[in-house]
Amino acid sequence: MDTTPSGLGLRDADGPTEEWFTDQTTGQRFVKMGDIVFPPRKVWMKTYGCQMNYHDTDRIIDHLKSLNFTQALEVEDADLVLFNTCAVRDLANNKFYSHLGNMKHQKALKKDKLVVGVGGCVAQTEGKELIKKYRHLDFAFGPDTIDSINDMVYRTYAGDSKFFINNWDRSENFSIQTKISHGTPQAFVNIIKGCNKYCTYCIVPYTRGKERSRKLDEVVEDIRRLVKYQGIQEVTLLGQNVNSYGKENGESLAQLILELEKLDGLELIRYTTSHPYDISDDLIKVHGISKKLSKHLHLPVQSGSNTVLKRMNREYTIEHYLDRIAKLKEAQPEIIISTDIIAGFLNETDEEHQDTLKLLDTAKFDFIYSYAYSKRNKTRAARSEDHLTKEIRSARLREIQLHQLDLQAVTREKLVGKTFRILVEGKNTFKDETKWKGRTNCNRIIHFLPSDEDENLQWHWVNVEVTSTTALSCQGKFISDLGKKLIPIQ
Ligand code: SAH
Ligand code: SF4
Ligand code: F3S
Repeated sequence: MDTTPSGLGLRDADGPTEEWFTDQTTGQRFVKMGDIVFPPRKVWMKTYGCQMNYHDTDRIIDHLKSLNFTQALEVEDADLVLFNTCAVRDLANNKFYSHLGNMKHQKALKKDKLVVGVGGCVAQTEGKELIKKYRHLDFAFGPDTIDSINDMVYRTYAGDSKFFINNWDRSENFSIQTKISHGTPQAFVNIIKGCNKYCTYCIVPYTRGKERSRKLDEVVEDIRRLVKYQGIQEVTLLGQNVNSYGKENGESLAQLILELEKLDGLELIRYTTSHPYDISDDLIKVHGISKKLSKHLHLPVQSGSNTVLKRMNREYTIEHYLDRIAKLKEAQPEIIISTDIIAGFLNETDEEHQDTLKLLDTAKFDFIYSYAYSKRNKTRAARSEDHLTKEIRSARLREIQLHQLDLQAVTREKLVGKTFRILVEGKNTFKDETKWKGRTNCNRIIHFLPSDEDENLQWHWVNVEVTSTTALSCQGKFISDLGKKLIPIQ
């Protein structure tokens, strides 16, 4: 059993643990936990939402390995189906509810042998209702309990289904060890969980709880181990507001990046998500001096209007936001910025909407994620009256997206003729043509044809020259292969 200290749901120290044994006649491996024997089984997981959720899914799958589960590629092959849900907007929510509904049929096909569980942010706030409403759902669990997943699965196989766990971890520090099982050189590392910001539209503080950081030494040691033993070269530091990292321990994200900078073999550091209010001068300085920090920063602005930002409780003004970008560009002239925008927030006027369009012109974002405002129960905004119609919201969203695409086409065009070093992530086939694709340091994806069709460039660093662009994509030509490991930066 994993005995590392945990900030994601401490397991009961007195509970049963997993023990492996081999059947002498068949040679098959089994796990015994308490008085239950677990034969080899398959788990299928469906994840919605942010990178934090995808990261949690990895962690859940890693835990389940010690209960003899491997991953099923198709839901039809699964013995256990788990949903890792997102509550941030209606869209992800609705998709999940329809998938969960379909599981009733799947369960009937397997004569009730299928176990179904729901985790993540919807489970945290709606778990009890879900259990009541969906008779084919066996259990639900919140994001702070995922390190007890094996205990929950054990419980269902022991015959105790229809339970719901949404405890908060109340330990002083958030302490975990990163688990990855994908075998790629890229890793996500959770450094802070929860959020104390309470933006008026956002459900996250209610689903992920209070902010809590891991200790700096623990994170550095964790990443040193990932680099040394698991071949990790690129790390993304994760949290809902990573700029708040370490506050309770007198530590900071700037300090953490400078420590990580010293790790031989680590090539690229990214972090997400940033809150513009908390991006400190020290952190901006680090963008100027770090050789490993990505030259892309995702800095969600949400709106171009000060009055809307105030209603959102975002704590900054557009002037502050633009000042942070100007300082970042001063420190690191090559930095590019992307953002999130919410269209049609509560009672947004046309003038306020126009301010967002103007901000797109001024800030020249590399790309944006934009969403129509979606009312979330429990949030402050949900308690206010709202005069905007769905149609206005959608029209404003479309207008923002089209305007940004026009701007993006121009910024992308300027990349033609430039050479970038990229880490090749995989292949894509489009209109019968198979191309490799990789990500630049500043997070832009470039597609390119191989010079030799048989050569496997997966996870190689290569130089490519951009040959053509559209608002949404970059095409390039292969220049040189730098191999799987880079020569250390001097
Ligand atoms: N912690 C991050 C991201 C949180 S959720 C941050 O502070 O930026 C990701 C994005 O979803 C947000 O940036 C916001 O643009 C969007 N979002 C959150 N709640 C929303 C809501 N109720 N309606 C529409 N979009 C929302
Ligand atoms: Fe939500 Fe705001 Fe926290 Fe981001 S900073 S997770 S938008 S409350
Ligand atoms: Fe969604 Fe929860 Fe992430 S609400 S965006 S999965 S923190």
